[in-house]
Amino acid sequence: MKIYLNGKFVDKAQAKVSVYDHGFLYGDGAFEGIRSYNGLVFKLKEHIDRLYETLHTLMIDPLMTRAEMINAVISTLRVNKLKDSYIRLIVSRGEGDLGLDPSKCFGRPSVVIIADKITLYSEDLYQKGIEIISASTTKNHPNALNPQLKSLNYLNNILAKIEASLCGFHEAVMLDANGYIGECTADNIFIYKDGVLSTPHLGRLKGITCTAILEQARKMKIKVFEGYITRHEMYNSNECFLTGTAAELIPVVKVDGRVIGTGKPGPVAKKLLNAFHKLTRTDGVKVE
Ligand SMILES: Cc1ncc(COP(=O)(O)O)c(C=O)c1O
Repeated sequence: MKIYLNGKFVDKAQAKVSVYDHGFLYGDGAFEGIRSYNGLVFKLKEHIDRLYETLHTLMIDPLMTRAEMINAVISTLRVNKLKDSYIRLIVSRGEGDLGLDPSKCFGRPSVVIIADKITLYSEDLYQKGIEIISASTTKNHPNALNPQLKSLNYLNNILAKIEASLCGFHEAVMLDANGYIGECTADNIFIYKDGVLSTPHLGRLKGITCTAILEQARKMKIKVFEGYITRHEMYNSNECFLTGTAAELIPVVKVDGRVIGTGKPGPVAKKLLNAFHKLTRTDGVKVE
């Protein structure tokens, strides 16, 4: 496997960054998780735009245009002859001294692209649905680290994931500082009730999959609501599901011990997952 590292392709064993890199020392950087399906990179432009928005807020200049970044992703897939792949794109602030002051860094960000595979959930879980809990660890307040930033700092998500694992569950839903539903540790969350598909508006990452699912729902003439959602509404929904690049769309059948709807994956989740699969076959930037 060849890894893209600062403009060059190197073997996995040689793909190294400095221990003085502020991505390593402080989680100072941004990343994207992207997927290609049969030689089409799904929503590549949208991923690159989100990356550049995070970098803009963090005031990290990747020293590459968006077009160059897109080409680097495509080249990584070409070099590795990969058609179906999970791509991890990382831009860190780069090397500096041991203090956290970014102005003391040398202004040479580290850009890394890894093309690999990912499987979050086994196939039977897509058929059966998963059970999740709500975590006691909350999302960051937008004035701390806005959840819309896809930064290298995922520590509260990791703490929530540990809570889920310790309780024997796959995922945890995290609430925002006011107690409204935010998102799961690596996925957005939706509920469906009486003809309306709802997802939180703020307090979450603007998921590329989430946006695609909302578009598909609108096309199906399903009413869509983006706003505040409470745990009570989630417990009493007809359907609940999670979306993300790696997971795609996975149904949730129990939250905090409360059965959701019939306790089985619902028809809306199934319809939307089918529509999403169709979209990934046609919508994307070609590798060749
Ligand atoms: C915290 C969080 N929320 C939501 C998502 C889903 O976003 P996307 O659909 O762009 O993969 C991710 C994906 O990595 C995530 O880390």
